[in-house]
Amino acid sequence: MPMRIAKSIILIAGIALSLPAPVHAQQSQAPNQDQAGSAASPSDIDGETMFATSCGFCHQSGGRAAGRGPKLAGTTRSDDFIADRVRKGKPGAMPAYGSVFSESQIMAIVAYIRALE
Ligand code: HEC
Repeated sequence: MPMRIAKSIILIAGIALSLPAPVHAQQSQAPNQDQAGSAASPSDIDGETMFATSCGFCHQSGGRAAGRGPKLAGTTRSDDFIADRVRKGKPGAMPAYGSVFSESQIMAIVAYIRALE
């Protein structure tokens, strides 16, 4: 791909990565609710808001339509695939969120995508 496009994707990815910080900071103020064993169930976490903040820029209409990224509503991918894509992203296409979101938050985002129609 032309360098100019690659650069703007990196720039956008950087912006997208910087946005979820407040959400994450809020979560970490309640450490008891979000440890590895995930005492907080995904439904306690607002997947829709996280999606709107972090993913909506590329996955339009809350994931219901294609934008820079594909439409996610009605996906035939497994939960594992989606969670893994969110953690690792895709070089040159989508940022990785593994260090931005906790596992519970990633599960909440997967649940949000599953519930899309
Ligand atoms: C900078 C734009 C961008 C952002 C931000 C972004 N994505 Fe993506 N996403 C993409 C692109 C582009 C693809 C397609 C990559 C490919 O070629 O497989 C993709 C693919 C995916 C896929 C796989 C779809 C499939 O079936 O192949 C999932 C799931 C996904 N994104 C979820 C998310 C979630 C959840 C977030 C927020 C935490 C997010 N994305 C943020 C651009 C983005």
